[in-house]
Amino acid sequence: MNLRAHAKVNLTLTVCGPRPDGYHELRTVFQSLALHDTLRFTSVEDRCVLTCSSPEVPLDERNLVWRAARMVWDAAGRRGEPRGRVRITKRIPAQGGLGGGSADGAAALVGWNRLWDTRLPDERLLELARGLGADVPFFLYAGTALGLNRGDEIHPMADAPARWVVLVFPPFGVSTPEAFRWWDEDQVGLAAGAERPATPLAVFNDLEAPVSRRHPQLVEIRRELERAGAEAAAMTGSGSTVFGLFTARAVARAASDRVGRAGWRSLVTRTATRVQARPG
Ligand code: C5P
Repeated sequence: MNLRAHAKVNLTLTVCGPRPDGYHELRTVFQSLALHDTLRFTSVEDRCVLTCSSPEVPLDERNLVWRAARMVWDAAGRRGEPRGRVRITKRIPAQGGLGGGSADGAAALVGWNRLWDTRLPDERLLELARGLGADVPFFLYAGTALGLNRGDEIHPMADAPARWVVLVFPPFGVSTPEAFRWWDEDQVGLAAGAERPATPLAVFNDLEAPVSRRHPQLVEIRRELERAGAEAAAMTGSGSTVFGLFTARAVARAASDRVGRAGWRSLVTRTATRVQARPG
């Protein structure tokens, strides 16, 4: 059994403020991309075996695919150790704000549930997804969706109009807790969200200013995408990936070449609909 785990960008991300539980109250619009990892499940072995095409990915309990196995197994009341083999083909860059680990985790909940015929209902998988991480629930829905609370209360929306998407990868990563901490620091003496730009497609990210202040390169990347004809451009999630939206494929390709000449790694993908991007 093969399942695709699609990446996302955040078309908009409003940070409303800190919560007593250490998280931040969010309002965000998620959008699935065609870019995806692939998870191949096989029901051999007497234990759980994870392999991955990318050597940087941890293959132990830090991997959400592994934790999803434990969760589904226990939730179904099975005894002993979960057993099965998963091969992850990794295409979504890690720690980039594209939800790679979370997408794999959500696909794994669906995959294990099917492999073992444990028949956990969707609502149960959703609870387990929340336990894996704040942005995991979105990946069970996919497409275009509004995320509230910690980003984990999902309201599916009509698919956004299709666009070509140029992803640009700066030579540094940003950890999610770090980005939120910088947002906290910068609130002192600042009116939060005062400078949201007016763009044709509403695209903005409240974490972008605090992250850009520590990594000014992000401002240059965004400008380069806008000069190359992007309809809108912003950082996704807690970064560091910056994306630009384009209506024409040729213009997106040219923009990708242009940021490449400026020294940044990039790729061209497109938005994916709910039907295209839902795991399974
Ligand atoms: O849930 P997840 O493990 O993905 O979150 C990682 C960290 O990101 C949290 O521990 C928290 O510091 C930060 N975060 C936050 N508010 C959110 C989501 C994540 O502060 N809504």
